[in-house]
Amino acid sequence: MKLENKTIEAMNGVQIPQLGFGVYKITKEQEFETAISEAIRAGYRHFDTAKIYGNEQALGREIQKCGIPRAEFFITSKVWNTDHGYKATKRAFEQTCSKLNVDYLDMYLIHFASPDYLGTWRAMEELYTEGKIKVIGVTNFEIQHLEKLIKHANIPPMINQIETHPEFPQHELHDYLKKYKILHEAWAPLGQGNKALLEHPELKRIARNHKKTVAQIVLRWHMQIATINIVS
Ligand SMILES: NC(=O)c1ccc[n+]([C@@H]2O[C@H](COP(=O)([O-])OP(=O)(O)OC[C@H]3O[C@@H](n4cnc5c(N)ncnc54)[C@H](OP(=O)(O)O)[C@@H]3O)[C@@H](O)[C@H]2O)c1
Repeated sequence: MKLENKTIEAMNGVQIPQLGFGVYKITKEQEFETAISEAIRAGYRHFDTAKIYGNEQALGREIQKCGIPRAEFFITSKVWNTDHGYKATKRAFEQTCSKLNVDYLDMYLIHFASPDYLGTWRAMEELYTEGKIKVIGVTNFEIQHLEKLIKHANIPPMINQIETHPEFPQHELHDYLKKYKILHEAWAPLGQGNKALLEHPELKRIARNHKKTVAQIVLRWHMQIATINIVS
């Protein structure tokens, strides 16, 4: 079965594939090669990595190896906590691009709101204006962090990647993001495989009724509330 690759539009008009493949924790070379080539074969074009995952280079290699043009992929990476501040972020961005072997990123996110995230954002705004990043955003930001960022930014954050699944739906933050036209991206959309979620009696009942798996039901829930999902 081919992947349903719907896109969601960011506030600047960029189309983001709603379903992406996250590469967190895939570190063994052989495992990585198989996982990424299978994901590409299944139709994934949106890949989510981060400096801290330690596999940007391996992801870049697999994407180049498959022979599909770079422009057909949507590649996300993230600024790690030790690279905060204007200068360090510029340097971290260059290192990430070099590891991935790309000359632009589709999306670059601040991984956590550590102290100098305003300096980090200034660097990201410049990189965005220079055309080196198509979508800039954040991850794990709470309302208080977003308020401060929106107040000081010239370009508002376009997306916030946060833990989201039916047991942790993030209603308040979801409504806040919607109000500011910031996209809601879900990490751990399947609750990291947690049994309390995947064996929840109500979800099992719905799955039985629709002849689907609980994981499919949970992903449909995400699609319907219009989150962008990164599954592993
Ligand atoms: N921004 C951040 O701070 C942050 C944090 C965490 C993750 N992320 C991103 O989000 C991505 C996904 O997060 P995640 O891996 O933590 O969570 P997830 O996608 O919710 O959970 C992955 C786990 O779900 C289970 N699973 C996957 N497909 C399944 C299926 N069809 N049926 C039943 N179970 C299934 C597997 O568990 P078992 O192996 O136990 O079967 C798998 O290891 C990461 O790769 C990363 O890119 C970002």
